[in-house]
Amino acid sequence: MLKSRITGTGSYVPEKIIDNSYLGKKIDTSDEWITERTGIRERRVVKTGQANSDLCFEASKKALLAAGLKPKDIDMIVVATMSGDMPMPSTAAILQKKLGAKNASAFDVNAACSGFIYGLSVADKFIKTGASQKLLLVGAEVNSRFLDWEDRATCVLFGDGAGAVVLEPTKGKRGILSTHLHSDGNLWDFICLPGGGSKNPPSEKTIKKGMHFIKMKGNETFKVAVRTLEKLVVSTLRENNVDPSELAMLIPHQANLRIISATARRLNLPMSRVAVNLDKYGNTSSASIPIALDEVVRDGRIKRGDYVLLEAFGSGLTWGSALIKW
Ligand code: UT7
Repeated sequence: MLKSRITGTGSYVPEKIIDNSYLGKKIDTSDEWITERTGIRERRVVKTGQANSDLCFEASKKALLAAGLKPKDIDMIVVATMSGDMPMPSTAAILQKKLGAKNASAFDVNAACSGFIYGLSVADKFIKTGASQKLLLVGAEVNSRFLDWEDRATCVLFGDGAGAVVLEPTKGKRGILSTHLHSDGNLWDFICLPGGGSKNPPSEKTIKKGMHFIKMKGNETFKVAVRTLEKLVVSTLRENNVDPSELAMLIPHQANLRIISATARRLNLPMSRVAVNLDKYGNTSSASIPIALDEVVRDGRIKRGDYVLLEAFGSGLTWGSALIKW
C-alpha cells in the first residue's frame, strides 16, 4: 500500500514588514490590543508588482532543492490559494511557466485558510493511487491586496507569504497517515470577499461599497473555530490510535494565538511542541501551515519517525487536519 511522504519543504515571505505600532498610527488600534487579542506583532506585505505566483516561485525553488529535484521532475503542481494572480488561469499554471516545470499538470485549490490541508488531501490521493510520482504543493497568499486598510477588524490580522512541499510515494511506515476534511457552507458569510465574482461582478458600486475587501464576523468565527478544532484534533489522533502524549509537534493554522493555545490545552500539549509564527507573519491563510512546517523542519524541531499533526480552520466555513509520521 503506497503512502505519500513530504520529501522537501520551502517557504518565502516578502521583505516588507508592517508592525502593529505603524498600524496604531494610521487607524484606531494599538500594539497592545493586537498583541493581546491575537498574538500578532507584525506581518509581511508584497511590494508593488509582486504577485502570488512570485511568492510561490521562491518557496517552490527551496522545496525542490530540499527534495533534490529539478522542475522538470514534477508531474503535478497544486497551489492552494484564495488570492491568486488572477481568476484564470490558475496560479499553478503561471507557477509552472515560471519554474519551467514542463512535465506537470497544474491547478489551484481554494478552501481559504484550510486550503493547504485540502491541497494536501488531494495530493495524497494522487500519490496513493499512483497517478502522481512527484507532486509540488504550494500554499500561498497575497492577502494584503484584499484588505481594507481602514478596517481595524480585518487589516491587522492578515499577511502575505508562501510555503511549498514536495510529495513522493513511499512504501514504508512513514508518511501521511490520514487527512480529514470538513465544511459547513451554511456559515459562508462568516468570512468572505463578496465582490468581483459572478454574483457581484466588479462595478463602480461594488468598489464604492468596499465589496472587494475581506469581511469577517471575527468573534462568531472565533467561537466556532475553538469548538471545532478541539474536536478535530482529538478525533484525528483517536482514529490513528495515537495518544496526544506521543505527538511531537502540532502545526496549526495561524489565525489567533488564543485559538492555538486552546487547541494545545485540549491535547495537554506544552507550547514548546506547538509551531507558532503568527507573531512574525500574521494570518497568511493557506500559507500559514507550510511556512510553519518549513520552519520546524529547518530548525530540526521534528525528526524522522515523529508524529506531526496539522490542522486548519477558515472561510467556507472549512476545517481539516492531517496526521503525518515524519
Ligand atoms: O483564518 C480564518 C479563521 N479566522 C479566525 O479564526 C479568526 C477568529 N477571530 C478572531 O481571531 C478574533 O475574533 C478577532 C481577533 C478577529 C477579534 O477579537 P475578539 O476578542 O473576538 O474581539 P471582538 O471582535 O469581540 O471585538 C472586541 C472589541 C470591539 O469593541 P467594543 O464593541 O467592545 O467597543 C471591537 O470594535 O474590540 C474592538 N476591536 C478593536 N480594537 C482595537 C476590533 N478590532 C480592533 C482593533 N483594535 N484592531
